Amino acid sequence: DKRLKQVMLEAHQFAANLYQYVLKETPYGAEALKYLTRRGMSAETLTEFQIGFAPDSWDFLTQFLAKRDFSLDVMVEAGLLAKSDSGKIFDRFRGRVMFPIQDSQGNVIGFGGRLLETTQAKSQPKYLNSPESPLFNKSATLFNLHRARPNIRKKKQALLFEGYVDVVSTWQAGFPLGIATLGTALTEQQARIIRRNVDSIVLCYDGDAAGQEATSKAIHILQQADLKVRVAPLPQGTDPDDYIRQHGAEAFSQQVLLQAMPITAFRLKHLRSQYVINDEMDKAGLIAKALEIINELDSPVERDMYQRQLAEEYSLSLNDLKWESKRVYRQQ
Ligand code: CTP
Ligand code: MN
Ligand code: MN
Ligand code: MN
Ligand code: MN
Repeated sequence: DKRLKQVMLEAHQFAANLYQYVLKETPYGAEALKYLTRRGMSAETLTEFQIGFAPDSWDFLTQFLAKRDFSLDVMVEAGLLAKSDSGKIFDRFRGRVMFPIQDSQGNVIGFGGRLLETTQAKSQPKYLNSPESPLFNKSATLFNLHRARPNIRKKKQALLFEGYVDVVSTWQAGFPLGIATLGTALTEQQARIIRRNVDSIVLCYDGDAAGQEATSKAIHILQQADLKVRVAPLPQGTDPDDYIRQHGAEAFSQQVLLQAMPITAFRLKHLRSQYVINDEMDKAGLIAKALEIINELDSPVERDMYQRQLAEEYSLSLNDLKWESKRVYRQQ
């Protein structure tokens, strides 16, 4: 009910403040602060995003919440604390850099916690996120939407990333339009929330196989929500944060964002990356698949444009390709 949610909200803001204090003002945060600084995050950015550190302790937050008279069982339900099978209550987040997740009004409703590289134990996931709770509905929340929304509306543009760090890093570099999902695949609900604010979006997922797969899935969901989608190309093995640190903000703007491809171009590129061509049969198979993708376009002008590109790329006559396209279309 309402009172319970209010208590949970208070506890989250309290925890966010405490974690920030630990990071900035105490020796327990020194290593984390060094880590974040080495990753290029400025003091201003840490403050803007309320980034903090949860010390590597079983009862640091637990003790503070108890002293403040928060019911510990409610705190377990809120996802800040956890409970063992034997009933013992302890800090859920230990030894992690804490990224507060806010709702559309800016209330902290959960956290994403990243292990320090130095303490990264194999048994522990790199990121630990708050569980679903009465406050936190993952499939209806987007990281940083609250902060980026005025910019997204003004620029009529949004950037969708995979990671919290990508959002923070691009924001710091001067691109305050970034949002991210919360360690889960993009949902229809999230797509509809985006659509309420803007009608076109640039997908900017990691340049690896997982990122490509996630991009293919996200395209579908975003298009269903009636969003115009383009896909920004990132070099293999790089994510937006890596890219900015290696090449700078100007290159990110020119070489990544401004090169964002319409989805047909992305799908054709993805197709080529999946096909190994050993002989003419393979080549014919690839071309048939490419023609299927091109046939899905509504505009005959666009279809013609992509067919010409394909003909040129594989040294085919445009006439033959158009015949083949009709044949493929009848089978589609
Ligand atoms: N993620 C997660 N659990 C993991 C790994 C990843 O929930 N064990 C989610 C997080 O939301 C993370 C996103 O997936 O932000 C992207 O993952 P990844 O690319 O591995 O992390 P980065 O954001 O690049 O983080 P970093 O640069 O700090 O390694
Ligand atoms: Mn990744
Ligand atoms: Mn695929
Ligand atoms: Mn990444
Ligand atoms: Mn990264």
